[in-house]
Amino acid sequence: MLVENKVAVITGGASGIGEATALRYGEEGARVVVADVDEDGGQETVDQIEADGGEATFVQTDVSQEADVKAMIETAVSEYGGLDVLFNNAGIEGPLSTFAEYEMDAFDQVVAINLRGVFLGIKYGIQAMLADGGGSIISTSSIAADSGVMGRSAYSATKAGVNGMTRTAAMEYAEDNIRVNSVLPGIVETPMHHRAAEQKPDRVTRFEVSEAMPGKGQPEHLADAVLFLGSDLSARITGITLPVDGGFLIKP
Ligand SMILES: NC(=O)c1ccc[n+]([C@@H]2O[C@H](COP(=O)([O-])OP(=O)(O)OC[C@H]3O[C@@H](n4cnc5c(N)ncnc54)[C@H](O)[C@@H]3O)[C@@H](O)[C@H]2O)c1
Repeated sequence: MLVENKVAVITGGASGIGEATALRYGEEGARVVVADVDEDGGQETVDQIEADGGEATFVQTDVSQEADVKAMIETAVSEYGGLDVLFNNAGIEGPLSTFAEYEMDAFDQVVAINLRGVFLGIKYGIQAMLADGGGSIISTSSIAADSGVMGRSAYSATKAGVNGMTRTAAMEYAEDNIRVNSVLPGIVETPMHHRAAEQKPDRVTRFEVSEAMPGKGQPEHLADAVLFLGSDLSARITGITLPVDGGFLIKP
């Protein structure tokens, strides 16, 4: 078992990549705190982990709210005695809108969840890990961080920000045995992908996303990468952004 007895907090654990990762960590022996705004979906993930013989608990969390993130980390410490792995994965795509039309309320919401939420996770995750001898933090970036994606200005800004925060936190806490990395999904078949595929204003229809490898990424592909980065198999890896993108970024 790759993460036996480790304590893992996973945000966005009710759906898609977070759900698949929570199940994977449960299978590999971790005690999992599933965090999400979606109570029903989060509880279903916990029920599935328990049905598979694992240990998990749900904590309703809005990652943009400081008090919620503090309480989420405190749940790991009070229920399971510490924190070894934190997966900052909750995120929203926001509207598909070019710059001139982008609504500022929507901009602020995307930044609050995707950027401030990851900052808060890293901040409070590090506090718990400093008290516990170290750990591994992984956050979810996107191909939108490294390549232009029309209609996704706020989203791509936040995902580039995730990679910047990852590198800075990795430098600041390397001596404390805290590793900080991010994963960079390409196209992954999740509810978010299906929602995003339906948003098609005129100026954006020219943009077709495709990966070098045939088919589409599945949540389980990301779960395996996050398992690697959270396990001791990646003991010497910090500050990286690991693409899990079927070769999207290497395409001309
Ligand atoms: N699916 C893709 O193609 C793709 C590609 C690149 C990056 N990503 C990123 O992967 C991550 C997971 O996305 P997914 O595809 O699994 O999407 P998803 O919509 O299936 O799941 C996202 C989860 O985050 C939760 N969430 C949303 N706002 C939240 C908040 N404020 N606090 C706590 N939880 C919140 C949702 O309730 C949901 O359970 C996101 O950060 C997303 O940007 C996805």
